[in-house]
Amino acid sequence: MTGAGAAAQNRIDEIIAGRFACRDFSGEPVGRGTIEQILRVARFAPSGANIQPWHVYVLAGAAKDRVSAAVRKAHETARDAHVSEYSYYASDLPEPYLQRRQEFGRLFYGSLGIAQTDSDARSAQTAKNYAFFGAPIGLIVTIDRRLQVGSWLDLGMFVQNVLLAAAGHGLQSCPQETFSKYHGILRPLLSIPAEQMVVCGISIGRARHQITGRLMPRADIAEFASFAGFKEQSATQMERTRPWEAETN
Ligand SMILES: Cc1cc2nc3c(=O)[nH]c(=O)nc-3n(C[C@H](O)[C@H](O)[C@H](O)COP(=O)(O)O)c2cc1C
Repeated sequence: MTGAGAAAQNRIDEIIAGRFACRDFSGEPVGRGTIEQILRVARFAPSGANIQPWHVYVLAGAAKDRVSAAVRKAHETARDAHVSEYSYYASDLPEPYLQRRQEFGRLFYGSLGIAQTDSDARSAQTAKNYAFFGAPIGLIVTIDRRLQVGSWLDLGMFVQNVLLAAAGHGLQSCPQETFSKYHGILRPLLSIPAEQMVVCGISIGRARHQITGRLMPRADIAEFASFAGFKEQSATQMERTRPWEAETN
């Protein structure tokens, strides 16, 4: 596994490799015009047959606070009564995903000083999701339940575009599947039609603290990519022959 380090070679690379899941925002406001611009750009995500299967509810101020309060209350008083309308994770996670998820837990809770066995502290951390981690903007993303899995692929591209467009404005973000569990609370509050399924939330704002390094590593490309038909050396092989230019992170 390696960090973002020298992965970026241009501005788009920098934005993609520099994005991270921010879970501590300053409350500094972000104007509607900025969010509209982010969405105006994000809508250029590709989608099969250009069906553009996304819908977002954009929340700020009192509207966001109302949603946060209702979902937090449900989390505190009746969390077992709420279930997401879709499964995010396979119930029996095969390798190498299981080991990566375990590493996530170690790194994530370790960075917060929370023991993985401390269920109260973990639940309190989960509750911060519902306050959009203090961000001034919260999005709730939905998809029409009559669509198929391909449209979820399109939706993921749209969500990533939102995160990257936000980064282009110097804003941080966090996608949050945890909101899907509370669709029963969100639906009446936001007048979400019955055919729409709550997929995730997204927090957007400015990070409270400057981030110095990436917390979550990524697998090397050799772990997920197979190459065929190339005559030239790979970048990694070239680095080995030109060690003075090799990445140092
Ligand atoms: C669709 C999606 C849903 C996620 N849901 C949550 C969430 O509910 N709460 C949270 O704190 N992080 C959530 N994350 C953030 C991931 O934990 C994070 O992206 C991953 O650990 C990699 O870290 P990085 O984004 O900082 O590189 C979600 C990410 C994605 C893509």
